[in-house]
Amino acid sequence: MTLSNLPPLVTVFGGSGFVGRHVVRALARRGYRIRVAVRRPDLAGFLQPIGGVGQISFVQANLRYRQSVDRAVEGADHVVNCVGVLFETGRNTFDAVQDFGARAVAEAARAAGAKLTHISAIGADENSGSTYARTKARGEAAVRRTVPDAVILRPSIVFGPEDGFFNKFATMARYAPFLPLIGGGRTKLQPVYVGDVAEAVARSVDGTIERGRIYELGGPEVLTFRQCLETMLRIVDRKNPLVSLPFAVASLIGSLASMIPFVKPPLTADQVTLLRADNIVSDAARAEGRTLEAIGIEPALVEVILPSYLVRYRTQGQFTKIDRTA
Ligand SMILES: NC(=O)c1ccc[n+]([C@@H]2O[C@H](COP(=O)([O-])OP(=O)(O)OC[C@H]3O[C@@H](n4cnc5c(N)ncnc54)[C@H](OP(=O)(O)O)[C@@H]3O)[C@@H](O)[C@H]2O)c1
Repeated sequence: MTLSNLPPLVTVFGGSGFVGRHVVRALARRGYRIRVAVRRPDLAGFLQPIGGVGQISFVQANLRYRQSVDRAVEGADHVVNCVGVLFETGRNTFDAVQDFGARAVAEAARAAGAKLTHISAIGADENSGSTYARTKARGEAAVRRTVPDAVILRPSIVFGPEDGFFNKFATMARYAPFLPLIGGGRTKLQPVYVGDVAEAVARSVDGTIERGRIYELGGPEVLTFRQCLETMLRIVDRKNPLVSLPFAVASLIGSLASMIPFVKPPLTADQVTLLRADNIVSDAARAEGRTLEAIGIEPALVEVILPSYLVRYRTQGQFTKIDRTA
């Protein structure tokens, strides 16, 4: 094979994260060469077997260090940014990663003449009370200014084997006498399967979806926070009561939890702020064909996927006998 007929090279920032690893898998299946740009390449080795020999390579990159971003993008045909943070740790702040970091990736992609696919989030809003959502909006704006034909994908809450939502509450269900219904559990969510998000990224890289647009990615059904927990409890065959926790109390707990040094907070005040607003695909996105369905992806149902990875939270795992008549 000569250099000129090598498959296109895609740099994936955050390729070792939850969404990122599924993006790497979807791209590898299509035969792309993939450069995974992560802060700790030594911890990303689990991605290697996803591809063929030499198909996936690793490079050290931190969005806070511009030179490392430029180096990771050198020679790439397409850049995918899957980097985001749900809480701040040290210098890895929302601003640094989701605003300035997103801009750094966009500038590097433009300088390299590469196409760009950027992962943002439904709820990205310059006027939000949540720093996560505000910095996501600023990151989007920087991406659109710098690379006008970039594809921006905004998922609702993402579920899949390594998710931080259903797994977290299923873990709690094993030990806690009850589960908290933050804000009464009325917030509407539209959980989207990580495989569908990855497929949307892959189609963007393939060039089969319209560029320069913001797509909103939601699953086939809108569920309240309460319905999400009820579905999860049914699947793990547990009966923990659901107890309403007012937003103010949850926020206080989140603030206190964030003060414990060196511990990943189970909940932050910023996440509680995010939960105050519904997180669903907008009418505008549906009307303008900026959804999964509009790009030809039939999104998977929570009920179908969840048992495949939540089974381990049942009392006897896969050997638990479920009484279907109850
Ligand atoms: N999961 C969801 O429900 C959800 C919903 C909506 C939108 N999103 C968005 O989807 C994207 C992926 O989310 P995720 O759930 O996959 O998150 P994740 O599992 O936490 O992965 C985030 C990735 O970002 C990397 N990262 C963090 N700080 C970095 C920095 N300074 N420089 C370079 N890399 C850095 C992490 O690498 P390290 O291992 O080095 O920390 C990790 O690979 C994010 O933009 C997120 O906002 C996610």
